[in-house]
Amino acid sequence: MAGRMVVGVDGSAPATAAVEWAADDARRRGLPLRVVHVCEPWPHGVGEPRSDHCAGVLEAAADLARGLAPDVEVTTEMLSGNVIEALIAESASADSVVLGSRGLGGFAGMVLGSVGMAVAGHAEGPVVIVRDPSAAGLGPGPVEHGQIAVGFDGSEHSEAAMEYALMQARARDARLRVVYAWQLPVFSPYAVGYGGVLEDVFQQEVRAARERVAPWREKYPEVEITEQEVCEHPVSALIKAAAAVDLLVVGSRGLGGFASAVLGSVSHAVLHHVTRPVAVVRPHRGAS
Ligand SMILES: Nc1ncnc2c1ncn2[C@@H]1O[C@H](COP(=O)(O)OP(=O)(O)OP(=O)(O)O)[C@@H](O)[C@H]1O
Ligand SMILES: [Mg+2]
Repeated sequence: MAGRMVVGVDGSAPATAAVEWAADDARRRGLPLRVVHVCEPWPHGVGEPRSDHCAGVLEAAADLARGLAPDVEVTTEMLSGNVIEALIAESASADSVVLGSRGLGGFAGMVLGSVGMAVAGHAEGPVVIVRDPSAAGLGPGPVEHGQIAVGFDGSEHSEAAMEYALMQARARDARLRVVYAWQLPVFSPYAVGYGGVLEDVFQQEVRAARERVAPWREKYPEVEITEQEVCEHPVSALIKAAAAVDLLVVGSRGLGGFASAVLGSVSHAVLHHVTRPVAVVRPHRGAS
């Protein structure tokens, strides 16, 4: 979906990293950037009104974005109410929502905050979660790998992830690595002797996955696509693939799991372990 990008800020270091990522992405893709801060009241209405503080948080983030991407149209909006609900509402009309992996609250050891987690699970369209590079041990300065990876299982959500990944690859002139991981359904001593059968099943899965990727190759002929089919748990395959990418893209749900789950177990695990930016994609409502 064309439109504007939205970045949510709370004044934390990860949110600042999110602004840097969003400004760069908006510049590459020629999109306007809307910087939003949800101004939360003090509990029980005690204390001074917080609007001065909130306005400061918003303006500092907008100044950073304007400094990094002078050609991008940057607007700001101070919102009120529940942070998660406000950001999910923003996603309905946004190209994508960009957030830091952590914010100001939470336990020090946590990798992902509750806002990032809930928005990634419920928002429409892509949600990009960005780590603070220094906290993730990545060192200063941007590192570019010229490669994007997408986790693909042929589910509706992974098709939406593929579309976003290809669009990003085109905008960045990067290669796209399509990771299709399939784990043997049986790991028991009784499976000994079925190796040949399981290998045949795996090869069938690989052929089916390649058939699903073929139309995407036709739609984006300018993007170099490599396909990697592995007989491995998808989480470990994606974590390995993410080591040398500029962005890892996954669908918010896959083929498996409970129908009611908001975030599939693979997307959930990837968000907790990958230090590179991760985009979790749920199709926009009404998208075919
Ligand atoms: N009030 C807010 N307004 C706008 N965006 C926010 C707000 N709070 C958090 N965010 C966004 O969500 C990201 C993740 O913050 P989150 O609140 O999930 O982590 P946390 O504060 O460490 O943990 P928690 O809030 O669960 O205790 C932030 O980097 C920021 O992008
Ligand atoms: Mg928070």
